[in-house]
Amino acid sequence: MDKVARTAKLTPAALLSQFALEVSAGLAKPGQKELPSKYLYDSVGSALFEVICALPEYGLTRTEEHLLQLHAREIVDQLPRPVVVAELGSGTGRKTRLLLEALSRWQSTWYHPIEISPSALAVLRRELRDINSISIVGFEREYLDGLREVAARRSPGEHLLVLFLGSTIGNFDGSAGSDFLCNLRQMLQAGDSLLLGTDMLKPRQTLISAYDDPIGVTAAFNLNLLARINRELGADFQLQQFEHLAVFNERTRSVEMHLRSRSRQKVAVPEASISIHFEKDETIWTESSHKYSQDELISLARHAGFRPEAQWMDHSWGFAENLWIAQ
Ligand code: AVJ
Repeated sequence: MDKVARTAKLTPAALLSQFALEVSAGLAKPGQKELPSKYLYDSVGSALFEVICALPEYGLTRTEEHLLQLHAREIVDQLPRPVVVAELGSGTGRKTRLLLEALSRWQSTWYHPIEISPSALAVLRRELRDINSISIVGFEREYLDGLREVAARRSPGEHLLVLFLGSTIGNFDGSAGSDFLCNLRQMLQAGDSLLLGTDMLKPRQTLISAYDDPIGVTAAFNLNLLARINRELGADFQLQQFEHLAVFNERTRSVEMHLRSRSRQKVAVPEASISIHFEKDETIWTESSHKYSQDELISLARHAGFRPEAQWMDHSWGFAENLWIAQ
């Protein structure tokens, strides 16, 4: 089968104004200022995230890759066939490769990565193009918009497998994760599957080291969000006036990343038409990374309309690969 590499895009102008709108909404918010974590992943941020994954303190990605190395065949053997694969937030494809290679023993496969970072999509295409009998059609879209398109294009009799790896589900805070899974389920048919990677609860100090590493890669990853706002929206954030902070919120069971203002200061963001005041020690909340318990996963699945079918768990780091079937 021919390999296809096409992308359905939004225009750069539409993307920029969306970014400007969300930045201005988040920074002008009364009380806790915040920025959406999805904007951490421009080309610099995606490259820094790759480095984070290589850090000894950040076990999450390495552990998930190891789980898939051990179990990809077993996972794939549980799926109905033929199956079309959609992946939310594809990353670089190292983990996906393990699943696609296992699938290619059985069938030729359409693979649809859905990813808002064009640089990540490009890396992924290069990374996976040598796998036999895989056809890649990517979507530079928000997750559910992309998934809607994939679902609309499926042929009768084809099942859908949605990959949502890396515990990215944990980046939705509060009830947003559960709402997201309900919305995702609405786009599936009964019998479709979701492979969901979830980072599990673990001791607080392990979590803090993973999100505040000693050589400062995660700090750079976080601060790059301000640098990106400078680059793309003409803002005048002085990066030395902000510092990276990782805290574990016991109530929400999430690691939160913040950027703390080292002084009282004012920052202008011309292309978002705002100017923001910071008190000394005031923070911008840039990401939550929820950590899961076993009971919580089961009730999340049921609540969203899935049957938890199987689970592959690594106990030494604490990470689970969950296979859920749409009811
Ligand atoms: C990409 C969702 C897996 O929440 O652990 C890594 C991103 N943030 N270090 C996570 C992240 C800080 C991350 N995921």
